[in-house]
Amino acid sequence: MAFRLAQISDTHLSPRVPAFSANFSILADHLRGLRPDLVVNTGDLSLNGADDAADLVLARTAHDGLGLDWLAVPGNHDLGDDPLPKCRQPANAERLARWRAQIGPDLFLRDVPGWRLIGLNSQITATELPEAEAQIEALARALEGAAGRAVAIFLHKPLCEERMDETGVTYWCVQHAPRQRIFDLLSRHRPAFVANGHVHQWRDRGVSEGLRQIWAPSAAFIVGDAYQAVVGEKQLGYVEHLLHADGTFESRLVTLPGLMRHDIGEMPELYGPQKRLAA
Ligand SMILES: [Fe+2]
Ligand SMILES: [Fe+2]
Repeated sequence: MAFRLAQISDTHLSPRVPAFSANFSILADHLRGLRPDLVVNTGDLSLNGADDAADLVLARTAHDGLGLDWLAVPGNHDLGDDPLPKCRQPANAERLARWRAQIGPDLFLRDVPGWRLIGLNSQITATELPEAEAQIEALARALEGAAGRAVAIFLHKPLCEERMDETGVTYWCVQHAPRQRIFDLLSRHRPAFVANGHVHQWRDRGVSEGLRQIWAPSAAFIVGDAYQAVVGEKQLGYVEHLLHADGTFESRLVTLPGLMRHDIGEMPELYGPQKRLAA
């Protein structure tokens, strides 16, 4: 029997936004009926946990309310971000401590039949925090210790948009220097797949540069075409991964009737006006 893992992402929960809690309720009802073996949220559990602990508290309560085994890695809205130009909420020790106090560890390692599941914190990879270096060392140990298990990696941001040697500084992906270090480790110990969120688009394009990268959609909102290029599919839902003990797997997008397709571009009260794409 396959291990059923539900990868949810970008739930953006807050007491201030009942509309996103309503979408989470539909997802939660579905998961409670399905009873997957594990739920993994790949980040942005909260609307603004980076500055407001109340959002993390609600996210924690909502996930505990699933009555299911669950794990999470932080997103930029939970923990802040790599110190990019104009970054309003840099990931720092205070924000990391808040995440850990309200949600738990920012990394995970879980062995299930035939598989090793590794959760990474993509939000600190380009910071000077000692946890950034410790994370690389922990990843190396986790890969070396997989002992024949298939490996799946979970993190908030995609490693890259198209190619691992991209050098552009971008809000959307892990930055170039830490990406190269992670990719170097993954090149020596190939994971079966790397799963992320953050882009709010579903994408599974098969193997590129030896890595299968699976992008989970948000369960809360999409970013409308006026504000974000289409690089995958702008769906709402989650990803189901069926992990077989022999290391094979199937991953698929699950859409749910009833999820309201909110466009963050039309909700400037939450994150401010979104920048329109050039016509
Ligand atoms: Fe998000
Ligand atoms: Fe994000």
